[in-house]
Amino acid sequence: ELKKKKLIDHKKFFYDESSPKIDDAAYDKLKNELIEFEKENKIHKSEKKISDLVGFQPSKKFKKIKHSEAMLSLDNAFDSDDIFDFYKRINNYLNLSSGFRAEIFAEPKIDGISASLKYFNGNLVQGLSRGDGKFGEDITENLLTIKDIPKKLKNNRSGELIVRGEVYIPKSEFKKISNKFANPRNAASGSLRQKDAKNTSKIPLKFFAYGTIFLNHNIKTSQSSFLEFLKSEGFQVNPLGKLVKDEKDLFENYTRLERKRSELDYDIDGIVYKVNEFKLQQRLGNLTNSPRWAIAHKFSAEKGISKINNIEINKVENTVRTSIEKPTTWEYNNEFPMNGGSMNGIVGFDSLESSYSNFGNPIQLKPNEKPEYENIPHDDLRKPVVFN
Ligand code: IVH
Repeated sequence: ELKKKKLIDHKKFFYDESSPKIDDAAYDKLKNELIEFEKENKIHKSEKKISDLVGFQPSKKFKKIKHSEAMLSLDNAFDSDDIFDFYKRINNYLNLSSGFRAEIFAEPKIDGISASLKYFNGNLVQGLSRGDGKFGEDITENLLTIKDIPKKLKNNRSGELIVRGEVYIPKSEFKKISNKFANPRNAASGSLRQKDAKNTSKIPLKFFAYGTIFLNHNIKTSQSSFLEFLKSEGFQVNPLGKLVKDEKDLFENYTRLERKRSELDYDIDGIVYKVNEFKLQQRLGNLTNSPRWAIAHKFSAEKGISKINNIEINKVENTVRTSIEKPTTWEYNNEFPMNGGSMNGIVGFDSLESSYSNFGNPIQLKPNEKPEYENIPHDDLRKPVVFN
């Protein structure tokens, strides 16, 4: 009960006040513990289950509007077994032989704020936040200030079209305002939900379109062709999306994108797999909170991202010892795999043993993972060094 209250509080901090007090990995852990608990113990019918809550109730600041189709959450996969289970579930549900592999479209999971856009006869007429999944907030004015969001479609001029996607702030832009927000997603959420849209326009938000609703499946027959259609209508579509043909292909793509993660100018926290054929998506349908036709393959929490404000190097024989101290005026931004540690205060690396220590809490880097800063001249350390 106590944990549940804690989770609900954190949910509120996150969604309603746009200022989380714990990091995503800690939040996911708390949520998973509660979901496991609910699975193992019978929960009284009248009680609201954590697993039933999507997002948070819309804020009172904005008009509440019902989504034409609920904006769902995604089920999470944390390891390869979860992925094998996903394939199995699809095949069982569709009554297909276990040898069949539905084509899966894999696209980065953008760590931003989802929005649902309504076009009527080619004109943007309404933009909603996710809210609690059923009712969203009317943030049309704010969304209108985002350049990536077409106000008029290029070709499509008839009927109603719902386009869903993610509003995000580029990492490079976030750097400039990082003193005000905990992370880019919160900056996006905070500025998107400004009562005065003029304030939204001050923060350069961007938008990737990635989906629609079942009702608009008449336009195209698959996710991949729908994304092409979105591009032709003037939307930005993430360029790293890819069809994967089987598990092997899927895992290779996962590793490739996880490596690429730190080079991107936006945060991604995993990969979303979607059954590509719209007909199959419709046959699979939705569960209460998440579609049966999609899953989010999360990147490991141990690859948390930390901002380093100052770095100091001492050479001791063959070892480079790097200590990161409290933020000072020497601006140094970089990303390191943290293996679960959080980097407040001072931390040290020891490149010879490929080990990483956080004052008394030794944390191992992955096998064969070797810090690459060993031979880097002092000045070059200002440039990003990628550790994976
Ligand atoms: S598809 C029915 N695709 O992840 C849900 N979602 O945890 C379909 N997200 O609320 C969502 N990138 O805000 C989809 N390429 C992507 C995404 C994506 C980020 C977010 C979205 C959603 C959340 C689910």
